[in-house]
Amino acid sequence: MSVYVCSVCGHVEFSEPASMCPACKSPKDKFTRNDRIFEESAEKSKEAAVKHIPAIKINKSCGLIPEQSCFDIIVRIGATLHPMESAHFIQFIDCYVDDAYVSRVMLTPGVFAAGCFHLKTHGSKIKIVENCNLHGYWKAEADL
Ligand SMILES: [Fe+2]
Repeated sequence: MSVYVCSVCGHVEFSEPASMCPACKSPKDKFTRNDRIFEESAEKSKEAAVKHIPAIKINKSCGLIPEQSCFDIIVRIGATLHPMESAHFIQFIDCYVDDAYVSRVMLTPGVFAAGCFHLKTHGSKIKIVENCNLHGYWKAEADL
């Protein structure tokens, strides 16, 4: 699958670059194609996978929004929790449904390497992409 990366905010689009970046609104010409962006991170730091691959939990009966069905997508970064220090931290977690971008959680060193999405959009597959300031891009998928 082709992968396009926004050079302004780091957002990743799959298959086609968006007409503008859905995360930072930069124009389409700010996207550069790099189909191996996830493989490059894994090859660069082979031992890093345990701290970077997103762990996805799905709660189909959240209950926070009883007016509508609300799925929680709960993400932590790493089977071994990733550090969140000023020199080394997870910058964002992006959530996709069926490869279409839904939303982003921005992270700072003051919080855990984790996030939650209350999904309105339903589909069959969740994809989570995260970016570490030192170790690059990592992703994981889960069936809805
Ligand atoms: Fe890292």
